[in-house]
Amino acid sequence: MSGEAAPSPTRPRPTVWVNFAASEDGRIAYAGGLRARLSSPEDLRRVQQMRANCDAVLVGVGTVLRDDPSLRVHWDVLGEPPGPSPARIVVDSRGRTPAGARVLDGTARTLVATAEGCSRTFPAGVEVIVAGRDRVDLGALFERLPGLGVRRLMVEGGSEILTSVFRARLFDRCTVYHAPVIIGGRTAPSVAAGAETVGDAQAVHLALVGVERLGEGYLATYVPR
Ligand SMILES: NC(=O)c1ccc[n+]([C@@H]2O[C@H](COP(=O)([O-])OP(=O)(O)OC[C@H]3O[C@@H](n4cnc5c(N)ncnc54)[C@H](OP(=O)(O)O)[C@@H]3O)[C@@H](O)[C@H]2O)c1
Repeated sequence: MSGEAAPSPTRPRPTVWVNFAASEDGRIAYAGGLRARLSSPEDLRRVQQMRANCDAVLVGVGTVLRDDPSLRVHWDVLGEPPGPSPARIVVDSRGRTPAGARVLDGTARTLVATAEGCSRTFPAGVEVIVAGRDRVDLGALFERLPGLGVRRLMVEGGSEILTSVFRARLFDRCTVYHAPVIIGGRTAPSVAAGAETVGDAQAVHLALVGVERLGEGYLATYVPR
């Protein structure tokens, strides 16, 4: 990840960079979770560069079920010949990733994080990491990653994963592409959901460290406070 200090060898987890695109009302998809292509061409290119510069890209199984992303680097968007691909990590406690999902297509290293008791088998070559009893414990998972060669991790979503990562303060930097659109409605997922925030003590406070126009929208960079 360009511009970021190298992870310390003593750090118990990778350097974690959260990245997503949101509407101006904080939604990351359309009603019911239907995929919204919120990034401008300039932002799409930035995201591909981020993927290319990290060791792994992580999403929750909800995003796999909804969007079926490849999580590959689209070198054509970068205008570069294909280089090494980051690993793909799916957080999937119960093994709900469909057999035909693009993340299981064998074209890049793939890790699936499951919880204890998950009996699902995955195609040969897929690395299964058991981290957590009933649900994947992201803190425990992240601590395993440096030993698996992942020192720079990009977290792309979706809403539930972002919520867990924010609430547990498991990130070092967060970049948000703000698209100039209002989505609205009751079922379009917002950036973070989960347990109610009843006061300032539960809110996740961020410090804004950069703002930059990117095509029609803008990119805001935050660090945890
Ligand atoms: N705009 C953007 O940048 C962007 C990027 C990515 C996704 N999205 C959108 O996000 C939506 C999907 O979000 P989502 O919330 O439904 O799914 P998600 O966050 O991708 O995945 C959530 C699932 O992850 C599993 N999980 C396991 N351990 C977890 C933990 N500790 N914390 C949180 N989740 C855990 C849970 O399933 P199990 O209990 O079965 O393990 C959970 O249902 C889609 O609409 C997609 O289009 C938008």
